[in-house]
Amino acid sequence: MNAICIKGLVKTYRTGTQALKGVDLSIADGDFFALLGANGAGKTTIIGILTGLVTKTGGKVEIFGHDIDTDFEAAKKSIGVVPQEFNFHMFEQVQDIVVNQAGYFGIDHKTALKDSQEILKRVGLWEKRKAISRTLSGGMKRRLMIARGLIHHPRMLILDEPTAGVDVELRHGMWEYLRQINAAGTTILLTTHYLEEVEQMCNNCAIIKEGEIVLLDNVRHLLTKVPQDTYRVTVKEMLSLDQVRSFNPVKIDEHTLDIEIQKREELNEVILKLAQSGFVITDFHPKGNRLEKLFLEIVQR
Ligand SMILES: Nc1ncnc2c1ncn2[C@@H]1O[C@H](COP(=O)(O)OP(=O)(O)OP(=O)(O)O)[C@@H](O)[C@H]1O
Ligand SMILES: [Mg+2]
Repeated sequence: MNAICIKGLVKTYRTGTQALKGVDLSIADGDFFALLGANGAGKTTIIGILTGLVTKTGGKVEIFGHDIDTDFEAAKKSIGVVPQEFNFHMFEQVQDIVVNQAGYFGIDHKTALKDSQEILKRVGLWEKRKAISRTLSGGMKRRLMIARGLIHHPRMLILDEPTAGVDVELRHGMWEYLRQINAAGTTILLTTHYLEEVEQMCNNCAIIKEGEIVLLDNVRHLLTKVPQDTYRVTVKEMLSLDQVRSFNPVKIDEHTLDIEIQKREELNEVILKLAQSGFVITDFHPKGNRLEKLFLEIVQR
């Protein structure tokens, strides 16, 4: 069974903006799925429709087989949502926010207290359980949103830009946490602007552009389509680039150059060639993210 099945989804806002122009999208149960797209492409609109905050203009949406038009209560129970904007009560205590959310799903207070303890520990907020939410840092607020989204043990977690504004260390911690949740069986749908995130975590992804899905693919498969990678090389001393022209070298500064390496080339041979040309290499690593190039190509097309 699919976690999400969207057919011909259309949304025209009252302002006349056609945010979705007939979106078809299926997400398998257990998948870790990324929805990508430029600002204003329609990502939050899709999530809004899935979660009942936005009414669709046309089309059909099923969540774990429950049609949102006829069976919205069951559909809603099976998803947990982490919205793009912080929307919890800023003067409530952390644990209360999570426990109160459980109430909306008919979970009794005792169970909610017990479950909130486990979840708050997992997201690293147990020490802050009595803090007024307003006093949390941005990253902590983000984790509070995740804890709240998980309190009713949904089969699927939907996150709208979960790591926006979260520092690098915390972001890696969150990736790890989301991976664990997914490995334990929860389907995950997220939107993000960090393509590294997609490469690190997601199985499948879709790109939406101006309200239409323009690409739907497996992430691993997509990566094989990127013909070359750019590597950044640090050298002891910059020499003539003539002998390494085949790598399309770009000199960044006196100790740094970027080179392009075709997928089929062996890194050993690349390094050998550089060494034979007299370069002393002190560092060598892939530059930037491979998906980024592909993404830019697609959205700028
Ligand atoms: N409540 C609204 N009323 C009118 N137009 C809206 C509303 N919400 C969104 N839109 C418009 O719909 C389009 C899609 O917006 P949406 O928020 O879905 O984009 P997004 O992909 O989530 O972008 P971002 O990456 O910036 O979050 C945009 O043109 C936006 O201006
Ligand atoms: Mg958005």
